[in-house]
Amino acid sequence: MIKQLYYGVLAGLHQRQGIRQLRLLEKKLYSMHARFAVPFAYRGNGFFKSIEPRQNSVEIEELYKIICDLSPSIILEIGTARGGTLYLWTQAATVDAVIVSVDLPGGEFGGAYPLCRVPFYKSFAKQGQQIHLLRKDSHDVQTIKEVGGLFGNRPVDFAFIDGDHTYEGVKADFLNYGNLVRPGGIIAFHDILPTSEFPDIQVFRFWQEIKDKFNTKELIGPGGSGKKVGIGLIFVV
Ligand SMILES: C[S@@+](CC[C@H](N)C(=O)[O-])C[C@H]1O[C@@H](n2cnc3c(N)ncnc32)[C@H](O)[C@@H]1O
Repeated sequence: MIKQLYYGVLAGLHQRQGIRQLRLLEKKLYSMHARFAVPFAYRGNGFFKSIEPRQNSVEIEELYKIICDLSPSIILEIGTARGGTLYLWTQAATVDAVIVSVDLPGGEFGGAYPLCRVPFYKSFAKQGQQIHLLRKDSHDVQTIKEVGGLFGNRPVDFAFIDGDHTYEGVKADFLNYGNLVRPGGIIAFHDILPTSEFPDIQVFRFWQEIKDKFNTKELIGPGGSGKKVGIGLIFVV
């Protein structure tokens, strides 16, 4: 009953309030670089409470600057969660960008997002941009095909791999999607540092295996910047 009332009445109201707040923040924080602050400053209600990136702020700010310089038109994100990084990619991308973000409902390492947030996430798009949200398992063969179809065989400029953090999971995402990224493009992996707190997070094992085989860079937050998790970049040649 309470759930029905929420979806019937309040969810729509909270969504409209959320979109209005985003547009106000975007007016105040107008430049591309200032827009980095928007998902951290945003405060909403109910299911639209937060879009804060699940990231170390120094690491993700550095990545955001790199992606702004890349100015990508085709972006793939695995791991949408609260939409924080998705928002940042819309700001760094060109005005005609196609952005696909995949997240498994009930997925581990963050837990996806409720269906009512779909139109809210789509409202992140600037005029002319397209956002496609796939609420699916990134490892599924059908998902891989669908992602390729949405890009219409155009090569990917930037891929952010931040979904299944197990060794097998991150490796599968790299093998399934890494080859879509064009020379000159960037593949980024989240959580490349080992953590004793969450033993299932094994991205570091995969990163250690591959980092010397490519042109890579590590973004690691300084002490005092909160929990450092590390972002690993491959500059595709
Ligand atoms: C750390 S969160 C992503 C955070 C987000 N990129 C941000 O910083 O704003 C990881 C997300 O990956 C999703 N996930 C886990 N396994 C997945 C899979 N096999 N396919 C797609 N998404 C998956 C989870 O549901 C979770 O929402």
